[in-house]
Amino acid sequence: MKYLVTGGCGFIGCNLVRFLLENRAGASVRILDALTYAGSLDNLGAAAEDARVEFIQGDICDAEAVRRAMGGCEGVIHLAAESHVDRSIFGAEAAVRTNFEGTFRVLEAAREVGIERFLHVSTDEVYGAAEGVSFDENAPLLARNPYSASKAGADTMARAYWITYGLPVLITRPANNYGPYQYPEKLVPLFVYKALRDEPLPVYGDGMQVRDWLHVDDHCRAMLAVLERGEPGEAYNIPAHNERPNLQTIRLILHELGKPESLITYVEDRPGHDVRYSMTGEKLAALGWRPEVDWEAGMRASVRWFAEHLDWLEASYARGKAFFEQWYRNR
Ligand code: NAD
Ligand code: DAU
Repeated sequence: MKYLVTGGCGFIGCNLVRFLLENRAGASVRILDALTYAGSLDNLGAAAEDARVEFIQGDICDAEAVRRAMGGCEGVIHLAAESHVDRSIFGAEAAVRTNFEGTFRVLEAAREVGIERFLHVSTDEVYGAAEGVSFDENAPLLARNPYSASKAGADTMARAYWITYGLPVLITRPANNYGPYQYPEKLVPLFVYKALRDEPLPVYGDGMQVRDWLHVDDHCRAMLAVLERGEPGEAYNIPAHNERPNLQTIRLILHELGKPESLITYVEDRPGHDVRYSMTGEKLAALGWRPEVDWEAGMRASVRWFAEHLDWLEASYARGKAFFEQWYRNR
């Protein structure tokens, strides 16, 4: 199958491109990516030189660029997004533009081209905070920050394209991913970066917020399970069943790096911080998927990966420096 992967030079995208090349005989991949601060050709490694991979630099909000990139493709995996909650709080415009308008452009081009299978990657954040509950796919979308609201809009638009136009859209709502190549604005790689430099780790609020940690390899298997075996028009949660308070994850990072817990520094909370994410996963389990990566082993290996790829970590961090200086200055 010939796939278009939007956002293929970002964290999940570059892992997915490698996964497709290694696990799907006959697959070829066209990547459409704007190469924002979060994306880099370096993330592709050897895949960038693979004859089965074609890279197009372009913006998903550019209708003509999207149409051209999609021509000749059979499947689309739509990952491109402004993916960081804090940045969306600092300024919501980029998230609204890319996540909502950009998704509309990608859906519209898919309709024109007659795409056979369209995977829209949404997020568990569209349900809002899971206080005392685990959401199934029929729970209302009650997003609470600009990032998740823009993703909820995109999720709803994707469903509308199935209902209105019959575009065979499948929607996934994954939990918090971790693993190699995650951009160091997200908790795990950011705290590895800071701990390696013996800098304070800025823990929001009391650090007891709960996230469900999904290894990116498990996520890649789940995306293909849904793309290949899911029902068009349906949404599928991708939980990991690895719910941990942030402090547990942070202590593991420090332990793996041999750094002291005195680096933990409590700072002003993220506005509207969702205290917990939690989802049920029966629909995806019925497609034969279950998470395989053990949380502790997977998290330790990821921490080591960042520590062993210091050049990558520092170059990636440097691309986002202006934001970090402003966001963390008064925290
Ligand atoms: P990322 O920020 O690491 O990568 C995003 C990629 O999209 C980058 O390569 C960037 O250059 C590209 N991009 C951004 N704006 C673009 C535009 N206008 N046009 C073309 N390309 C553009 O993100 P990620 O963590 O890999 O997330 C991928 C997708 O998965 C997103 O849709 C995100 O909402 C979703 N998701 C992520 C997680 C997670 O924990 N990382 C969990 C659930 C869902
Ligand atoms: O749940 C899926 C979502 O997971 C995805 O849709 C998003 O794209 C992805 O960024 C992620 O969102 P989170 O907000 O959960 O991830 P983040 O790594 O930013 O934060 C994880 C937790 O760590 C959260 O409770 C906030 C906390 N945190 C984060 C940072 C960056 C801190 O305490 N301090 C920090 O400096």
